[in-house]
Amino acid sequence: MAPLCSSLRILAVLTMAMACHIPPSLSYSRPPARRTLSVPLAEDADEVTPQQVHISLVGADKIRVTWLTEGEAPSTVDYGTSSGVYPFSASGSASSYSYVLYSSGQIHDVVIGPLQPDTLYYYRCGSNAGRELSFKTPPAHLPIKFAVVGDLGQTGWTNSTLNHVSGSGYDVLILPGDLSYADTDQPLWDSYGRLVEPLASSRPWMVTEGNHEVEKIPMVESTPFKAYNARWRMPYDASGSKSNLYYSFDVAGGSVHVVMLGSYTGFGSSSDQYRWLVEDLAKVDRNRTWVVAVVHAPWYNTNKAHQGEGEDMMDAMEELLYAARVDVVFAGHVHAYERFTRVYDDGANGCGAVHITIGDGGNREGLAEDFQDPQPEISLFREASFGHGQLEILNSTHALWSWHRNDDDEEVVSDKVWLTSLSSNPACITK
Ligand SMILES: *[C@@H]1O[C@H](CO)[C@@H](O)[C@H](O)[C@H]1NC(C)=O
Ligand SMILES: *[C@@H]1O[C@H](CO)[C@@H](O)[C@H](O)[C@H]1NC(C)=O
Ligand SMILES: *[C@@H]1O[C@H](CO)[C@@H](O)[C@H](O)[C@H]1NC(C)=O
Ligand SMILES: [Fe+2]
Repeated sequence: MAPLCSSLRILAVLTMAMACHIPPSLSYSRPPARRTLSVPLAEDADEVTPQQVHISLVGADKIRVTWLTEGEAPSTVDYGTSSGVYPFSASGSASSYSYVLYSSGQIHDVVIGPLQPDTLYYYRCGSNAGRELSFKTPPAHLPIKFAVVGDLGQTGWTNSTLNHVSGSGYDVLILPGDLSYADTDQPLWDSYGRLVEPLASSRPWMVTEGNHEVEKIPMVESTPFKAYNARWRMPYDASGSKSNLYYSFDVAGGSVHVVMLGSYTGFGSSSDQYRWLVEDLAKVDRNRTWVVAVVHAPWYNTNKAHQGEGEDMMDAMEELLYAARVDVVFAGHVHAYERFTRVYDDGANGCGAVHITIGDGGNREGLAEDFQDPQPEISLFREASFGHGQLEILNSTHALWSWHRNDDDEEVVSDKVWLTSLSSNPACITK
């Protein structure tokens, strides 16, 4: 939603004018955006205290641990399966970046493994005796549960969403872009890192970029994605990609293939991303695989916000995803929830992907409440509320998708639907 609308919303609250057209609701009046939280550094933290720890998957049995220290500190991770006992150790490297007058701390990057599936590991970063963390690796087979949440930000609503995600029993989190809403104010990347650490250090967080990650300033900062690429390095090289802006990963022993696409880098038929996607999808074994794709700007969208912004990418890439029988496409960007039927080429198609917009994580810009009227038939469920989604893939044929709305701070399951895989539908099997 345009910042203008957010400001108007504040005005609306002050004057009771309906500046942003808040549609009537039967049972739930939608709340305004909440303020940006400030998550300070722990009082006893010093130059070498690990902070902002998050983990991501690397290949079938490794995990990347990423964290920051204010000053120089060892890039090592000690780990094991019993608390306080670390028979394994790995080391990596540290880097930093500068942005206008800001200099980041040391960003440490260590890949650990091989790790056992579905196992709780205890670890500490930089040999720091004071801080033990733990994570659970995903299972090596189905079932597996994903939490899906876009446009997260770092407000009171973000915290509410994170509390719900935390209790969901998820294995892997997928974030379809727009993480911190730092919007060039670099210390906000640090406070975002601290806000999400309790979750992001205990389960893999797999992210792709949104427009808020670009952070270019004309004449001053010409390199896009400086903070994002430095702080949220994803396993692009493990999937043959040359860019942190798009990659893929497998989970559950290859039963699920997830393609994280980049809406803000080249995607036309002569682009690196396009060529990489062709190769990546060709490797997918459709006999046993669910395929999920993730973008930031939605390709299908009946919200008045961001109309048509995903269209060029859809024109370029939808055919590839359709031919590869991608089951679900997640998007963010629009700050609302919307679920479509299986679609292709602007119409319902039983072999197309279910498109789901889940850009309602809780950022400071607020909700996108204005939908096109009447609701087109391909749009099955839409609502402007903060919340998150859960995709539980049970076996080769069935998955359960649910959307969990933040009813104020109560989690309420508001949309729930069974999905059956295209690989199990004879009508959709190609060749
Ligand atoms: C986030 O929510 C939890 C649980 O309600 C609360 O304890 C915590 O203080 C909140 N964090 C912030 C930064 O507001
Ligand atoms: C994949 O499925 C097709 C059609 O159901 C079958 O003919 C083929 O043998 C399967 N391939 C593998 C490797 O299981
Ligand atoms: C997958 O799980 C669903 C729901 O529990 C069940 O109905 C179906 O029979 C299962 N399919 C297979 C192939 O196990
Ligand atoms: Fe966005």
